[in-house]
Amino acid sequence: MAAPGVSVDEILEWQEIAYDAFLKQALKEEWNRMNQKTLIVYKSTTGFTRKYAKLAGKETGSKVIEYQKATAKLVSGYDTAVFGSRAHAGRMNGYHRIKKMFQKSGAKQMVFP
Ligand SMILES: Cc1cc2nc3c(=O)[nH]c(=O)nc-3n(C[C@H](O)[C@H](O)[C@H](O)COP(=O)(O)O)c2cc1C
Repeated sequence: MAAPGVSVDEILEWQEIAYDAFLKQALKEEWNRMNQKTLIVYKSTTGFTRKYAKLAGKETGSKVIEYQKATAKLVSGYDTAVFGSRAHAGRMNGYHRIKKMFQKSGAKQMVFP
């Protein structure tokens, strides 16, 4: 039942406007998510991390580069930066340099061992 002074047609019209705005916002968010640029940086000695980094890059359409080629300026061109390296005596090889570089670049960061 409509509220006094408000017709059912008016309520339906407002509902349509609200739903339209909701859909537009959802589409915008999805569009932004789909256009996120991701960079995968890897450090590998015997080739396992390189293999997985390239596989992840192919599956996600992300750019993949070697640790030595990574610079803060380059990383800053991406929304998300991922770092993969070998575990060595319980630590991720190259992590400290990459952590500083990712922080300086302003990209969101993620790490995989
Ligand atoms: C000297 C040495 C130390 C290692 N220490 C660890 C470790 O602490 N934890 C671990 O999970 N793996 C350790 N590993 C295994 C390497 O992380 C693993 O072989 C890795 O997949 C190699 O990556 P890469 O092929 O990209 O160089 C060690 C390997 C070596 C040679």
